[in-house]
Amino acid sequence: MFGAGSDTTASAISSMVMPAAAFPEAQKKVQKELDLVIGPGKAPTLSDENMLPQTQAFVLETYRWKPVVVGGIAHKATKDIIWGNYCIPAGTVVLGNHTSIGLDPAVYPNPYKFDPQRWLKEDERIRNDLRPVQYGFGRRVCPGQYVADRSVFLNTPLHLWAFQISELPSAPLDILAF
Ligand code: HEM
Repeated sequence: MFGAGSDTTASAISSMVMPAAAFPEAQKKVQKELDLVIGPGKAPTLSDENMLPQTQAFVLETYRWKPVVVGGIAHKATKDIIWGNYCIPAGTVVLGNHTSIGLDPAVYPNPYKFDPQRWLKEDERIRNDLRPVQYGFGRRVCPGQYVADRSVFLNTPLHLWAFQISELPSAPLDILAF
């Protein structure tokens, strides 16, 4: 499923490149943190993760802003389900649409804005009352999410520590494209 997770993980890593190029201020904030905490003498590693909240916030915001599995994966109700005022009859195909959930203004004010700061508390630590939905839900939630997160987290600071990522003026980014 999903190329055994390697394709989705590669997509998640490459999806960090677009906001870095499209939103130079957000990229600069991460690089400022990397300069301060890591410095030029050594590359960031997984053990640095907890000391890099701006980098974590950049990753979480990218998960929300451009979820890899755009519309979620189809599930089927195995029995009639009463949810609020609705009945979802047995056999109904149900999609938890990751993109729509990430754009809910009640949870993410100004949802079309790429704003990593929404994931941070006042003390600059990551909020623990908010979770991205890109790995699905319930019993079929992605079992590879921990491997994938490690990989994305390792690669994002490595890229932003080593490179300045910019939009090519002759090939402007289409940030609305899937
Ligand atoms: C960033 C990378 C990844 C993303 C965005 C992702 C996303 C997802 C999503 C949305 C689902 C469906 C959940 C649902 O049905 O609601 C899923 C299922 C699954 N994922 Fe991933 N995945 C990623 C990486 C991986 C990796 C690295 C592995 C394996 C090492 C993996 C293995 C699986 C498997 C086996 C399932 C099926 C689980 C089941 O149906 O019980 N995924 N993934």
